Amino acid sequence: MRNYHKIDMASTKWLTTHFLAKSAFRIRSLASLPIQNGAKVLDLCCGPGLYIPYLLDLVGPAGHVTGVDRDPVSLDAAHQRLSVLPNKNWRLEQSSFEDFVPRISDYDVVIIFNSIGYFSNPYAVVEDIAQRLTSGAMIVIKDFDLESFFFQPRDCTMWADLINSAKKMNDDENPVCYDNFFGRKVHSLHRAYPFKTHVNETWTQYMHFPFNELEQEYIWRNIECLLNQAGSSCPSSAEIYFKKLFYPSEPKFFSNPDSMFVEVEYVTQLTV
Ligand SMILES: C[S@@+](CC[C@H](N)C(=O)[O-])C[C@H]1O[C@@H](n2cnc3c(N)ncnc32)[C@H](O)[C@@H]1O
Repeated sequence: MRNYHKIDMASTKWLTTHFLAKSAFRIRSLASLPIQNGAKVLDLCCGPGLYIPYLLDLVGPAGHVTGVDRDPVSLDAAHQRLSVLPNKNWRLEQSSFEDFVPRISDYDVVIIFNSIGYFSNPYAVVEDIAQRLTSGAMIVIKDFDLESFFFQPRDCTMWADLINSAKKMNDDENPVCYDNFFGRKVHSLHRAYPFKTHVNETWTQYMHFPFNELEQEYIWRNIECLLNQAGSSCPSSAEIYFKKLFYPSEPKFFSNPDSMFVEVEYVTQLTV
């Protein structure tokens, strides 16, 4: 379809902005996970390895973290990030999930952050991993859902027009095979396998006036992603409304003292 492209939110630049905008929340959220001192952790689909330094802190020198991704450009960025650390108990491997999965049984914890929506059948991926892990090992999956961030002030009708158009395109046309609305399904992933336990939770980030530059870029990029995804199916009134509200050259939203933004991420901890 003309003018349509589904945004792939996997570029190193986007992920780094995203990560820095939320760094104060991130470290607390990761520390809340039951990752033990000495654990062997696999960061599956690690991209530029943004989480690996935090995982290394959680496992300590007796543990180990492996990052796997199929994208060599992201892995280069991960390598640069990790090689300046004093920690040496990490490894990066360029591989697809499909090629790596036979070797997954060695790990105590498998992390899949912001990536499960890339798979055409995420439930089959979870089942495949679970069948290979040893008893007591854990899978932790986190994803977002572009519909479930909340911000105000906003016009509800314009928001409904934008979100409906973006969702329609997400479902009907999917050239990069990535589901930007997968978050809503994360809490049902435990049904893929008879897990001993599952813990579902949400991680919430709250940003408000005055917004720093990274927060502004992060919020605007999320709206821009919805606009790009909605493409020509979005009514032009809604497109003009959101561009005027957020576009960096005239950021009405960011100069309004009443403005606030809340993002919800969906997390599941599955124990085999
Ligand atoms: C949105 S990025 C997330 C990166 C990282 N987990 C994060 O949250 O910052 C998704 C990553 O999944 C990787 N990926 C997607 N499908 C994959 C597959 N089948 N095998 C290996 N990597 C894959 C992409 O290359 C990309 O780096």
